[in-house]
This record gives sequence, structure tokens and C-alpha cells, in this order.
Amino acid sequence: MITLTSISKTFDGGGTFVVNNLSLHVHRGELLVILGESGSGKTTTLRMINRLVEPTEGSIHVNGRNTAQTDRVELRRSIGYVFQGIGLFPHMTVEENIAVVPRLLRWDEKQISTRVTELMTLMGLDVGAMRNRRPDELSGGQQQRVGVARALAAKPGVLLMDEPFGALDPLTRDSLQTELKRIQQIQNISIILVTHDMTEALLLGDRIAILHQGTLRAIGTPHDLLTNADDPYVVSLMETPKRQADRVEMIARGVRSNE
Ligand SMILES: Nc1ncnc2c1ncn2[C@@H]1O[C@H](COP(=O)(O)OP(=O)(O)OP(=O)(O)O)[C@@H](O)[C@H]1O
Ligand SMILES: [Mg+2]
Repeated sequence: MITLTSISKTFDGGGTFVVNNLSLHVHRGELLVILGESGSGKTTTLRMINRLVEPTEGSIHVNGRNTAQTDRVELRRSIGYVFQGIGLFPHMTVEENIAVVPRLLRWDEKQISTRVTELMTLMGLDVGAMRNRRPDELSGGQQQRVGVARALAAKPGVLLMDEPFGALDPLTRDSLQTELKRIQQIQNISIILVTHDMTEALLLGDRIAILHQGTLRAIGTPHDLLTNADDPYVVSLMETPKRQADRVEMIARGVRSNE
């Protein structure tokens, strides 16, 4: 569904490479998590897939088609995306925001309206109260959920998500993670999801790719990476949730480990 072949990106004519010789393959219906420190090239990688950024070297195929030879507008309509810094359209209502791609694809109005109701319900947004509000009349977390609904609206086969649940409280986050996993399975969507949250990566990822300074350090199932990693950076990263769980356990037992 999505194949990156030896992708590199430099913004300064080759002085530094923010993505370096990256190859990845995401199967149909698979959810691949990209995990990595701030500045490791995660957003740049996603932006190259829908051509918001052009790769310096290498090729990308989505649905078997080379993206460099696919019309950008057409490409972006076929890929759902939730990106850092690309917010909702401020002058449009929630309904209009969610309906953007279905309208471009000329769905009929009744079908669009039904889809908006369905997605708002799925995302835990109050349909009656919020449908006609503008983004600045919503909380940050509500806006984020509208962003996810908008990305899913036209039932894309490919979904790119950059920290989509970043601004959500733990309970809402947990329920949306479960929902996303369900949608992925029912609709057989291929998803690339970027996160800093290791627990989210372990719970959602069919596989996890670990990026470090633009280079792929490891890729595998959560179980593989937890049990078979030999790269010290990967091992230390994979141990963080367990270290944190141990500290929480200590606190629960009354040992004051947070001092
Ligand atoms: N348009 C640009 N021009 C120059 N440098 C850029 C540009 N876009 C990104 N970079 C640089 O590329 C590197 C990777 O950026 P990127 O946004 O992909 O990181 P990231 O892994 O998504 O980080 P974060 O977790 O903080 O979102 C960073 O050092 C960034 O400063
Ligand atoms: Mg980023």
C-alpha cells in the first residue's frame, strides 16, 4: 500500500540529511507506528508521502503508483491526513470541515450529512451542539477530534497521522485509540501514525519503526522490539514504559520513589 524506497531529504543542499536512505513498506490494513525523538524526521517523512515535501532522493509508491507521477491534488484526496500545524479551516463549521473531501469527490449532500453525523458520534463529539460551530468555538482536544474525523471522512485506504491524540486527556485518548484500531480493521486501512508516546506505540502498532536522526534504527512488531532488540538505543527506548510502570507500582505500594 505504501512503499518508501531509499528516501532521503536535505533542506540545505546536502549539508545535513533530515531523512537518510529510508526504506519502509506498509501492508494493506497495517498500522505502522513511527517513533522517534523530536527532530528525528518523522513529520518530514509523512509530508513526503503526500507530497507536501518532495524527497531529495528515492521513490514512494502509494497503492502501486509512483507518487512523483501522480497529480498532487488527486494524491491528497486519496490519502487521509492529520498533520501537526495543519489545522481546521477557521471560517468553516465543524460539518463543513469534515465534509471537505467528500464534497470534492462529489458525494451527494444526504450521504455527506449522514457521514458527518456518523463520524462525530464515533469521535465522541456532541452532534447537536457542535455541528455548526466554528473551530475557535471548540476546545483544543475537540478540534483534534474533528481533524481525525475529517481525515476519515471519505474512507481513504491510506491514513497519515502525526500525533493525532496529542492534546487529549487519557480517557478520551484511550477510547479514540480503541476506535481507530476498530476502524482500521473494519475498513482495512493502511495507517502510519507518528507518536512520542511509547505506550500508544505498543498498544496500537502492528509494527513500530524507530527513527533516530533521520535513520531507521529498528523495525518490528512490539513483541519483537521488546524481546529481541540488540541496539542499545532501541533497548533503552523500549524499556521506558516498564521503568515507568515500576515507578508507579512503587508509589502504589507507598514507597516514595518520585522524590
Ligand atoms: N522546511 C524545512 N527547512 C529546513 N529544515 C527543516 C524543514 N522542515 C524540517 N526541518 C528540519 O528537519 C528535521 C526533522 O524535522 P521533522 O519535523 O521531520 O521532525 P520530527 O521528527 O517530526 O520532530 P517532532 O517530534 O518535534 O515533531 C528538524 O531538524 C527540522 O528542523
Ligand atoms: Mg513532527
